[in-house]
Amino acid sequence: MNRRDFNKMLGAVAVAELTSLGARAETAAIPLKRLADQKRIMFGSCLALKYFNQSPTYKDLFLSQCDIATPELHMKWDSLSRQPGEYDFNNADQLVMFCSTNHIKVRGHTLVWHDSLPAWVKERLSPSSAKGVMFDHIQTVAGHFAGKLYSWDVVNEALDPGSQRPDGLRASPWLQNIGVDYIEQAFRATAKVDPKALLIWNENYLEVSNGFGDAKRQAMVSQLDRLLARGVPIHGVGLEAHLRSDQSNVLGDTSYELFLGELAKRGMKIFITELDVQDSTLPADVGSRDREVANLYKKFLTTSLRQPAVKGVVTWGLSDSFTWISGYRPRKDGLPVRPLAFDVNCQPKPAYYAIADALEAAPSRV
Ligand code: G3I
Repeated sequence: MNRRDFNKMLGAVAVAELTSLGARAETAAIPLKRLADQKRIMFGSCLALKYFNQSPTYKDLFLSQCDIATPELHMKWDSLSRQPGEYDFNNADQLVMFCSTNHIKVRGHTLVWHDSLPAWVKERLSPSSAKGVMFDHIQTVAGHFAGKLYSWDVVNEALDPGSQRPDGLRASPWLQNIGVDYIEQAFRATAKVDPKALLIWNENYLEVSNGFGDAKRQAMVSQLDRLLARGVPIHGVGLEAHLRSDQSNVLGDTSYELFLGELAKRGMKIFITELDVQDSTLPADVGSRDREVANLYKKFLTTSLRQPAVKGVVTWGLSDSFTWISGYRPRKDGLPVRPLAFDVNCQPKPAYYAIADALEAAPSRV
């Protein structure tokens, strides 16, 4: 595409933005946390302090929209500890203080994951050391924040049908060095250190009704049955919900709703924990792209929120200015991605209205 066409399209972007804004300006004033709170649902977003430093407007938007937050980076192992035995809680403490001052709950993210491990951990893990390394980390980190967090993602993305294991567990360094009991041990250790926090198993792709998603769902339910029968303190399941516009036909459908019912039947609190919609495969036209994204938000959230066990919705960002998708799934045409509820000027997009509509349609949680 040449520069002239690109500029012409950008002009169309402005028109599309104004049109979408003009069409629904009357509801833009209603913060999503307010609409959610009317149904006793929490609404929030992930957060990194650098976003506030880069955009004071974003800080105002965050405060206006969110009553729960997930640190995108600050509580991950590679952000907290670069050398054995050394922890730097400065950024995480600043985030917790900011949220506490502004009456925003914090979701701890995450204690035991195969990703974002500092080099020293990967070097040090062995069958004889791994349990001690994991326990030390949980006791240090969950102990540091004890009593201050709404929940912990104790275990993150521990399922992987690709591992070819009958139990569907990911062949992570934790499984390979400790065995399947690492999950039980992680939940029990966290419960001991912070008895107040809700303990969550956070997982990706459970929301997708295809072969991979179905296999994950079966593994999730089997693991819950196994662990709950042993009295393991698992209080909820987090569905990341990094939705893809090219999978809209297998999202938010009946089999997904039945899966949510299976989780609820087992007493699980359910959280949508990292919601965004990748538009990388949609056409360049901003107006139609935003509508497609909004339609998927509405379809998925309307189905999700019909299940009263769904207690909170956290998007993985609020404004298109700050999304991991820019680097992870950039568009081939080089146009900025538009996965979130607010645009780069922190103005509401059709996706904002879609989320608002789904919250307004949700049954109240008494
Ligand atoms: O800050 C450094 C920078 O100094 C350095 O120059 C640059 C290049 O190496 O890296 C920067 O750190 C990156 C960090 O994001 C901040 O941008 C890390 O490399 C990069 O790995 C990290 O990616 C994060 C990723 O989790 C891994 O922690 C993403 O921002 C974050 O959105 C993503 O979130 C995950 C959830 O935690 C779990 N579910 C999936 C979700 C998306 O992957």
